[in-house]
Amino acid sequence: MDTKVKKILITGGAGFMGRWTAKNLLDKGHKIWILDNLSNGFEKNIEEFRDKLQSFTTGDIKDEKALEKLFENNFDICVHFAAAIDVQDSIDNPEKNFNDNCVGAFNVLEQCKKHNTKIVFISSALVYKTAESGQKITEEHPLNASCPYTANKINGENLVMSYFKTYNLPTVILRPFSIYGPFQRSDSEGGVMSIFINKKLKSEPLDVFGDGEQSRDFFYIEDCAEFVARACLSDKAIGQVFNAGFGEEVKIKDLAKKITGSEADIRFIKHHHPHAEVMSMCADSSKAENVLNWKPTISLDEGINRTTQWLKLK
Ligand SMILES: NC(=O)c1ccc[n+]([C@@H]2O[C@H](COP(=O)([O-])OP(=O)(O)OC[C@H]3O[C@@H](n4cnc5c(N)ncnc54)[C@H](O)[C@@H]3O)[C@@H](O)[C@H]2O)c1
Repeated sequence: MDTKVKKILITGGAGFMGRWTAKNLLDKGHKIWILDNLSNGFEKNIEEFRDKLQSFTTGDIKDEKALEKLFENNFDICVHFAAAIDVQDSIDNPEKNFNDNCVGAFNVLEQCKKHNTKIVFISSALVYKTAESGQKITEEHPLNASCPYTANKINGENLVMSYFKTYNLPTVILRPFSIYGPFQRSDSEGGVMSIFINKKLKSEPLDVFGDGEQSRDFFYIEDCAEFVARACLSDKAIGQVFNAGFGEEVKIKDLAKKITGSEADIRFIKHHHPHAEVMSMCADSSKAENVLNWKPTISLDEGINRTTQWLKLK
């Protein structure tokens, strides 16, 4: 891993994953700038380390002039998290998702090209076609644009890869599986783990979409931030695509049971977008282990415990 101090821009840095990545890279001694339009992120997410940032800019990746100005800082690396993340919203309002996730990504990529800034593009494991239960997903697994959100992530990935091939721009594409932990939203816009734990803490029933047979590979946010940081700082990552997950397939109905401790507190409700559901997901992260020397460290039980403690104090 390169140990020289880097100038790093984090788009979407006031969001869940962005704030943890900013904290990780600051702790490693790097210089961090954050850009976020606060559409789904919060200034309080970065309170803990705001005075250590080079700057925090409230701005939008669709605003070419704002990007132009920010990139005058000549960053070494740009970690691109900023995106509209709600799958259902991408179905209801595809134009918004296209503008944020494709046009915005294009604007960021153009600035990276202009300044020869390495771009670490945060895609998603939702780009994969569903796997057989028990099958681990490698980076070669087929992709499937099952909804506008995944279509736009695949498009972003292709665009980023084309800049690597055409312009020799240093690029990395990351496909994290289901991340959870403190600072993830626990309301209806949040992740399933935080929503379930929050409901349990309020003694409310847990709603499971469909029959709950769909599975996810949950991995803890600080493990994810370390994965992203290693991809940023490793030259071996350039031109590559990496998965990362914990490597354990958990059915949503089993997660609900684990959190409530009782089946009586679970309601199975109609799925909003069954066609866009990826039924079975479990990461093969061996490429990240081999190339980036990265491994997840926090077990599901420990991660649930840490998330519960944080939500209790919130
Ligand atoms: N949470 C997960 O499990 C997961 C898994 C895989 C990939 N991802 C991807 O990781 C990234 C971060 O996800 P997250 O869970 O931290 O979501 P998040 O919503 O907490 O973070 C995204 C941040 O981007 C900001 N943003 C959105 N549109 C913007 C725009 N046009 N201009 C500037 N800022 C903008 C939001 O305000 C927010 O702070 C996203 O690209 C998401 O697709 C998330």
